[in-house]
Amino acid sequence: MAKFWKPGTEKPRLVEDEDGGVLFLYSSSSSSSSSSSTFGFANNLQNQRQRLPVYKRKDAILFLVENYATTIIVGETGSGKTTQIPQYLNEGGWSDDGHVIACTQPRRLAVQSVASRVAEEMGVKLGEEVGYVIRFEDVTTPGVTRVKFLTDGVLLREMMDDPLLSKYSVIMVDEAHERSISTDVVLGLLKKIQRRRPELRLIISSATIEAKSIASFFRPSKKHRGAGDDVVPKREPAIISAEGRGFTVGINYVQEPVADYLQAAVSTVMLIHKQQAAGDILVFLTGQDDIDAAAQLLNEEAQSSDRSTGGLLVLPLYSGLSRADQARILSSSVTLQDLVFSPTPRGKRKVIISTNIAETSLTLEGIVYVVDSGFSKQRFYDPISDIENLVVAPISKASARQRAGRAGRVRPGKCYRLYTEEYFVNEMPAEGIPEMQRSNLVSCVIQLKALGIDNILGFDWPASPSPEAMIRALEILYSLGVLDDDAKLTSPTGFQVAEIPLDPMLSKAMLASGELGCSEEMLTIAAALSVQSIWISIRGAQKQLDEARLRFAAAEVSPSAPLYSPMLRTQGDHVTFLNVYKGFLQSGKSSKWCHKNFVNYHAMKKVLETREQLKRTAQRLGIILKSCDKDMQAVRKAITAGFFANACHIEPYTHEGKFKTVRTSEDVYIHPSSVLFRVNPKWVVYHSLVSTDRRYMRNVVTIDPAWLVEVAPHYYQYQGPGSLNR
Ligand code: CDP
Ligand code: MG
Repeated sequence: MAKFWKPGTEKPRLVEDEDGGVLFLYSSSSSSSSSSSTFGFANNLQNQRQRLPVYKRKDAILFLVENYATTIIVGETGSGKTTQIPQYLNEGGWSDDGHVIACTQPRRLAVQSVASRVAEEMGVKLGEEVGYVIRFEDVTTPGVTRVKFLTDGVLLREMMDDPLLSKYSVIMVDEAHERSISTDVVLGLLKKIQRRRPELRLIISSATIEAKSIASFFRPSKKHRGAGDDVVPKREPAIISAEGRGFTVGINYVQEPVADYLQAAVSTVMLIHKQQAAGDILVFLTGQDDIDAAAQLLNEEAQSSDRSTGGLLVLPLYSGLSRADQARILSSSVTLQDLVFSPTPRGKRKVIISTNIAETSLTLEGIVYVVDSGFSKQRFYDPISDIENLVVAPISKASARQRAGRAGRVRPGKCYRLYTEEYFVNEMPAEGIPEMQRSNLVSCVIQLKALGIDNILGFDWPASPSPEAMIRALEILYSLGVLDDDAKLTSPTGFQVAEIPLDPMLSKAMLASGELGCSEEMLTIAAALSVQSIWISIRGAQKQLDEARLRFAAAEVSPSAPLYSPMLRTQGDHVTFLNVYKGFLQSGKSSKWCHKNFVNYHAMKKVLETREQLKRTAQRLGIILKSCDKDMQAVRKAITAGFFANACHIEPYTHEGKFKTVRTSEDVYIHPSSVLFRVNPKWVVYHSLVSTDRRYMRNVVTIDPAWLVEVAPHYYQYQGPGSLNR
């Protein structure tokens, strides 16, 4: 088995600078010792803070922020950028006079985890001096919060009320190397804001070399240069490196390409566990499915084999991981998240199986071995079919290096790449494609429009989006009545849709529900669609789950009723959400009830919270709050008003449940998780599509095709019974 691996020759890389005028501080040599874990003791926390690589750069960072409008900080994961720099700024007086220091993250989980860590380090209660905001969750106290963590998407929304972001003195855009769509939009807008607010300071932090292209983006063009060198803050971006703690990581490659990376990952973990010295293992897989599967395989292995394989503590880590799942996996009250971030118990070896969330945005202590599948889930958008898919795709060299680096934080580590060296050298792309260039741009375009940026194609993007995707986004927004003939936001619809923090199609359905008298129902549906899933899925209990789901599928069927073909009366998944919600309220929001019905209690609590938030937005916008009670037709019609572009009809002469999209005549199928699976009504609209072996519609509802013409006469023409054209 050991022959499986071939040691690599990749050398650690140095970040270097080539452009004149940019200040660049090289890192000192890597410091040797690292702290043993000393969590939970305040005095030790302070010691720990001072041992972080950025600590040595504290004065330099404060100097640069004072003197330069934009400071770019490069430093490997775990060097203290995210947790320390906002605190330095706070200590350095940047939150005086009621100003707030903002730090953005691409991911919600990172926002929460980092904010609570910083609150702990500062010895304050989370939500007071240190707070965070993610969509539908605001844990800050206005006037009190000085350091605020938020997703970049939330920062974008804040610009709608406060276009110059005037309450912030410094905005740190963290994890900029990830080039998420919101990060790129935020960078573009901040560059604009800087011209109007020269006193605003930006910090852009990046784990990798990507810093260079970001620096050139922020370098003022000749037109804007002009001002003398002595003007403070200087407009040239400064770059500083806070490297310096990594240990060497030995790279191992497989000798032959692996057929099944999941299986290969599991055997590699077992091999490390049997043959290698103590130290935790971090495995990079792609998503919930393969992570859960690998966790299960490892747990089975660990239990079935002899003592030598005992002592493995298997911990899945992905964004949608709910507390209920965590408790189930662990059958204890300790949350998985606590375990992932806390020191490994004596005699145990942690195996954290993660998505690329652990690549840079989360710090995990004690990792010595990394197993890299070479894949991650990435979003790809096809503007022609308007399908956005999360696809398992090869990672870039930059990602692979980043993943390997996670093994060298505590002491020299090892990385096992589940691909060949030949592949790494010759085939793996050097850098990933910015999300901007592979995403649906509808939400992005509407937000820019709402901020008054009309010439979107001429916008100064860090990476230009594809014209096809841009045109498609404009087309969708136009069809929703959000944009007018001049591509300006319509009033009031356009402005209202932009204000609702949902996908524009869903926002439009929300507006329509006000007119159709079913806004109470639509609030519930929108909230349910915004959680990952309201169901508990337990491997091996798929049949029971399907049955539970079907019990809620038809209106009027009580959960205790026998299962006599309720399918016949099923109107779709959205209606099912309403029935579950009703049942949940009737049970007195009972967790027992949820458990009995395969409903995810924590997701339902989240639905309640989200619904409340959406309700406030709806009230602010003057949407009439009304319930249609049992009139599901109103609900389905309101959904159609938003999702008419996603209409499909069944292919009459096939027996396999094949549908065609009206817009592009593409073959699509109802997803097996839908209550309409195998029911195959004539006409449906779907909420989203996923592509696996086939294109599947998720969250599907039945409609009457006449509604399409009624709600979107500009989009559809009725051409006699059963035929509809665009
Ligand atoms: O942002 P960067 O990757 O440079 O580092 P960081 O997230 O600020 O983490 C610095 C240190 O804080 C890590 O080495 C961890 O020891 C600690 N940390 C933690 O214990 N818990 C967290 N949730 C975040 C950081
Ligand atoms: Mg960080």
